[in-house]
Amino acid sequence: MHPTLDIDFARSHFPAFAEPELANWVHLENAGGSFPAAQTIGALTGFYTKTKIQPYGQAGPTATAGKAMDSARNRWAKALNVDPDEVTFGPSTSQNTYVLAQAFGAMLEAGDEVIVTQQDHEANSGAWRRMAGERGFTLRDWQVDPVTGRLDPAGFDALLSGRTRLVCLPHCSNIAGEANPVAEITAKARSVGAASVVDGVSWAPHEIPDVTALGADIYMFSLYKVYGVHQGLMTVRRELLDRLPNQSHFFNAKYPSKKLAPAGPDHAQVAASSGTLDYIDALAEHHGIAANDPGERVRAVNALWRAQEIAVAAPLLDYLAAHPRARLLGPETCDDRRAPTIAFLPEKMSPQALEAALADRGFIVGASDFYAYRLIEAVGIDPETGVVRASMTHYTRGQDVSAFIEALDDLL
Ligand SMILES: Cc1ncc(COP(=O)(O)O)c(C=O)c1O
Repeated sequence: MHPTLDIDFARSHFPAFAEPELANWVHLENAGGSFPAAQTIGALTGFYTKTKIQPYGQAGPTATAGKAMDSARNRWAKALNVDPDEVTFGPSTSQNTYVLAQAFGAMLEAGDEVIVTQQDHEANSGAWRRMAGERGFTLRDWQVDPVTGRLDPAGFDALLSGRTRLVCLPHCSNIAGEANPVAEITAKARSVGAASVVDGVSWAPHEIPDVTALGADIYMFSLYKVYGVHQGLMTVRRELLDRLPNQSHFFNAKYPSKKLAPAGPDHAQVAASSGTLDYIDALAEHHGIAANDPGERVRAVNALWRAQEIAVAAPLLDYLAAHPRARLLGPETCDDRRAPTIAFLPEKMSPQALEAALADRGFIVGASDFYAYRLIEAVGIDPETGVVRASMTHYTRGQDVSAFIEALDDLL
């Protein structure tokens, strides 16, 4: 087995890197959306070209379309270590959460408590906060450290009680970049009979999780950040799914994977979501990863991704942590719990001015609150201007990060 990721091989699977119009750009907004792998584009084009007919019929091409959708669902279920019935595809994570909140919220009443965090992207926060207003249950706000933006597990212990019905948390913040100890938190939630909703959008591009091992009753992420199609994928543990009120047409209530998908699925994108897994399989084969179990294979490839990302992110973290005119958010070192998602506040100019100056030099970064409005506010930053975020992934090259540091050195 190769000890390290063959990054040239990985990059050869992304048409964007061979695209002349993108040749002069360095993509450092991967937390906003990654480039899609060639396998994703191929699967999508293939579906649109050959099988764009109402699926699950008896005629050849419609049956093929249905099989491709089922295959994608089954493969993702294996990768995530859940049952295929536990997988729901929806237009986005925000929409999946919205529908989930309608369903779960209907089971809650006055006296019940839901823990939400200040660290979440609004997707896994606002929907629950709105439902509290409608249903009369009580919200418990798990607050972040006002300097680092981190969630202190002791803060969680103080909020958890026999009245807690649901715990909502991010696997990793899209600003502070640090993975939370999810398995510990979900176990504690379970010990008082509460369910857990984990937003994995910021973490899944770096490590596609074993959801069962994490103990998350509900786990959500967005495939368009995981080298794939623009869909949200949500897993809901079957025992909970069976109890949730149906949000789909009444006659679909008996199909677990349709209960939380009120709209018809995007057939092509569901089928083409397998492109991410095909890409991972290509990496596994190239690196001599022989695991037959799809979950094991995915996690072995993820280990290659992580080692590469950690090495590439380290110099930027070191640089920003030491810079007198930048306030770095989140941990200063990159280890296996930190995503290469690096947010900072420049002191001498607005985030937007720095974004524009970096764009002039060919770097794509973001400058925003990134919909983590409550977190930005809690760490004393104006959400209207937000922070600059440079986010990398396994295909980001060390030379691009060095050039980025040079540009920052001029501009900061
Ligand atoms: C951490 C996090 N959660 C949720 C979302 C929302 O995902 P979607 O765009 O699929 O609704 C995002 C989007 O950027 C995110 O970064």
